[in-house]
Amino acid sequence: MSRPPADTPLEGRRVLLGVTGGIAAYKAALLARLLVQAGAEVDVVLTRGGGHFVGPATFEGITGRAVRSEVWEDIAAGTHVALGRAAEVLVVYPATAHTLARLAHGLADDLLATSALAATCPVVVAPAMHAEMWQHPATRDNVDLLTRRGVRLVGPAEGPLMGGDEGPGRLVDPEVAFAAVTAALTDAGSGTGSAARTATAAPTATAAPTAPSGPDLAGCRLVVTAGGTREALDPVRYLGNRSSGRMGFALAAAAAERGGEVELVAAPTELPTPPGVRRTDVVTARDMHAAVTARRTEVDVIIKAAAVADFRPEQVAPRKLKKDRGAPAVALVPNPDILAELGAARGTADRPVLVGFAAETDTAEDNGRAKLTAKGADLLVVNDVSATDAGFEVDDNRVVVLDRRGGRQEVALASKRVVADRILDAVVAWLEGPRGG
Ligand code: CTP
Repeated sequence: MSRPPADTPLEGRRVLLGVTGGIAAYKAALLARLLVQAGAEVDVVLTRGGGHFVGPATFEGITGRAVRSEVWEDIAAGTHVALGRAAEVLVVYPATAHTLARLAHGLADDLLATSALAATCPVVVAPAMHAEMWQHPATRDNVDLLTRRGVRLVGPAEGPLMGGDEGPGRLVDPEVAFAAVTAALTDAGSGTGSAARTATAAPTATAAPTAPSGPDLAGCRLVVTAGGTREALDPVRYLGNRSSGRMGFALAAAAAERGGEVELVAAPTELPTPPGVRRTDVVTARDMHAAVTARRTEVDVIIKAAAVADFRPEQVAPRKLKKDRGAPAVALVPNPDILAELGAARGTADRPVLVGFAAETDTAEDNGRAKLTAKGADLLVVNDVSATDAGFEVDDNRVVVLDRRGGRQEVALASKRVVADRILDAVVAWLEGPRGG
């Protein structure tokens, strides 16, 4: 087992480790050991389900402290709230679907649940379950609720699950959870805002969703593009793509809620305009190019979530193309690359901050990093559109945010609204960070 990094901020800190009933509960012993080695005082609460998979003796041996499971012990000492109150960070590892639901709804049906209700410290939750359970709308809603409340979710990872299954739902490794606990304590200790929380996240860990952000974009002017452009072939047909616009609209909504002055440049979509957002509708890549470049020097941030057609038909037939004339030969010509032009026009200046998206089906991150450099963007959100549970035409997304200084942050599968906030955290961190570079 690997050792924790030196200079740990965990020395003498009180960590409450909740272990619930999943096959991966054995990994909690490894997490406990990393925490103890880093100098933390670790109290373990083992749920009834957790106790089916791993015994208290293991944790007592590792932590040197009594393991608790019962609310009905030590009534006079107020056990049901004492551990939660004393904790400086609560980590639930693994967290079953049932425990996510209990935490989301504030149930108080066992010692872990009462401790969580009594805790005012940062909470880190590492879900572990079958892919279907993770993707179920009930679990998605519970995760959204917890995230909005400031609970930090770490994982789940994708990979082999119990019983030969595969998919999202695998418990993250103890080292990843350890990094999330450390980040939670560091952020709580330094009293920093969402921007710093993003910056301190472990570079390879799944980004831990953070507290609902305040008006940290107040005074910031943003252009957000969304949807898929359309390029006419004739009066009734066009070349288009599968972008629904949902990610861009979620970004616009989130940015407005965070105090930003948001202009949404939207390719055709049925989506309603989010409250507080100004909207300009466009159809083609060239319309979008005109709308965005006109605002280039007036704004602080441009987020290019739109899927822009790279090519358009050279000729648009003035009348409907008729089948009996045979298949038309369609010559295509390139459209302007809006983001690349913005990057070139900005040169060495640091405003506007440019955020691109990369929709990829193969070697997503490598392609994303290449696009980041080629287009002169500051941040690039990599979207693997080959997945069926995320990306185009669905409500959820899973992305990796790369930045021009080599930073990398994973945002685990979540609703596009939650992912939007995590992307904006990265934008705020970039706005507040060192200029240039
Ligand atoms: N983009 C743009 N103008 C274009 C094409 C893309 O501004 N004509 C922007 C998109 O809005 C996105 C980023 O560039 O922010 C990457 O878009 P993507 O479609 O992933 O990449 P392409 O540059 O089109 O390259 P390819 O299609 O070969 O992957």
